Amino acid sequence: MTETAARQPGHRLLMKKSIAQVQKEAAGQHLKRSLGAVNLVLFGIGCIIGAGIYVMTGSAAAHFAGPAVLLSFVVAGLACAFAGLCYAELASTMPVAGSAYTYSYTILGEVFAWVMGWLLVLEYGVAASTVAAGWSGSVTSLLANFGLVIPAHLTTSFIQATQGDHGLIFSAGHGLNLLGALGILAVTSLLVIGVSESANVNNVIVIIKVGVLLLFIGMGAFFVKPANWHPFIPPNEGGFTYGIPGIFRAASVIFFAYVGFEAVSTAAGEAKNPARDMPIGILGSLVVCTILYILVSAILTGIVPFRQLGVAAPIALAVDRMGVPWFAILIKLGAVAGLSSVMLILTYGQSRVFYAMARDGLLPRFFAKLHTGFRTPWIGTIILGLLIATAAAMLPIEILGDLVSLGTGVAFAIVCISVLWLRSTRPDLHRPFTAPFGVFVPVLGVIMSLVMVGPLLIDIVFKALHGDPIPAYLLTGYLSLGALIYFGYGLSHSRLGLGLGPHEEDGLPTEMEAVAHGLDEHGQK
Ligand code: ALA
Repeated sequence: MTETAARQPGHRLLMKKSIAQVQKEAAGQHLKRSLGAVNLVLFGIGCIIGAGIYVMTGSAAAHFAGPAVLLSFVVAGLACAFAGLCYAELASTMPVAGSAYTYSYTILGEVFAWVMGWLLVLEYGVAASTVAAGWSGSVTSLLANFGLVIPAHLTTSFIQATQGDHGLIFSAGHGLNLLGALGILAVTSLLVIGVSESANVNNVIVIIKVGVLLLFIGMGAFFVKPANWHPFIPPNEGGFTYGIPGIFRAASVIFFAYVGFEAVSTAAGEAKNPARDMPIGILGSLVVCTILYILVSAILTGIVPFRQLGVAAPIALAVDRMGVPWFAILIKLGAVAGLSSVMLILTYGQSRVFYAMARDGLLPRFFAKLHTGFRTPWIGTIILGLLIATAAAMLPIEILGDLVSLGTGVAFAIVCISVLWLRSTRPDLHRPFTAPFGVFVPVLGVIMSLVMVGPLLIDIVFKALHGDPIPAYLLTGYLSLGALIYFGYGLSHSRLGLGLGPHEEDGLPTEMEAVAHGLDEHGQK
């Protein structure tokens, strides 16, 4: 990024970067337009399939929706489809680093960029912790097949979730998920020395992940007991426990399973034919994953009675019930490989969002400082790795996953609003791809994103009122910390506010581009 500050009239908090400059810098990227529709679909699937399906489907079915978790996948998939079309429109108009953070800086102004950056921390950073919590469950389950038992206090988070009369209750325990933390630290070390995934590695992992799920569907079908699907929508037991409210609450949980699809939008600048391939890439990967998710959750709830599914590795549990030992090991290996790659990509994405924010002066400069040898933002990556590992060790997947869905839902809503705003203020801009049906898609995108967020907020308030304030404390603490950093640091150090261009540590591939194009950490093939 090399745009110069564009001081514009208006309130200081609403200063914007100039679109012309952002587009100019995008034109100067010199990245090859080499990605076709199939590559983009595979790239999307690589970022999408992870802890959401391997882990969280179990707790969504057990605690909220029962077998109707299938419908929750449809609802969450629809929310993503609308937001995805909006991402495609912005990505084709401004194919630059920082994705949604940069869109907000350009369209809505600095304070919105900060909010978006802070939400992306939930979407990528906290999501990496969530996947780590799931990863530790899968590794534990896999090692148990070889007779290696890891003590529970090393794989259980400090805060624990238990089922109470009015839903989940959170309390402090004695465990610490050191295994999950270790997974994150391993990924962090790889990112510091600059191991980046190539498109080929991504494609191989996608084949393993999808292959394993297809095997689960194919073999699992023989072990389904249809009685487990009755009642399909269990009667509501109060609050969000089952019934229609439960379907929507579960949708907000497994919304997490789709996180990552918008990463396809960051490859817009390199799509051979963005107007055609972006919607195919985004919607194609969403459709493939939605179908897979619906089938997997049908088999899962058909094999194991849904009330028993609230475990760390529900698919592994279902496979154990099948009683085919070699298949159990294969499935668990697939889960561990898939979750590892998502952990890596999410931590990578987070470090690049911090990198973009630090270059703009909104975060301390060391987040953008590159290692002289590895050319990676190493200090920022290490700090980030430690924070993500701590969250993985302390918090249960239920709290972490809700925070991710909350941040992602609000971020999607802001992206959809940005589309509406840009269309009305800059109708003249060249848009290689425009979301169809006029305002229908962005407006529905906002509504569906809020439908994802609503049950979470209601649940958090409900819990706080009923003596379980931990999620509310975490959320308000997180938002207050964001406000404190922006007003205490970002506002006074903003390069745009100071009338300066970004810091000049340049040359990194943009977020996710390395994965998409097989670039190394120096941006080389
Ligand atoms: N969608 C990704 C997952 O489910 C984040 O792990």
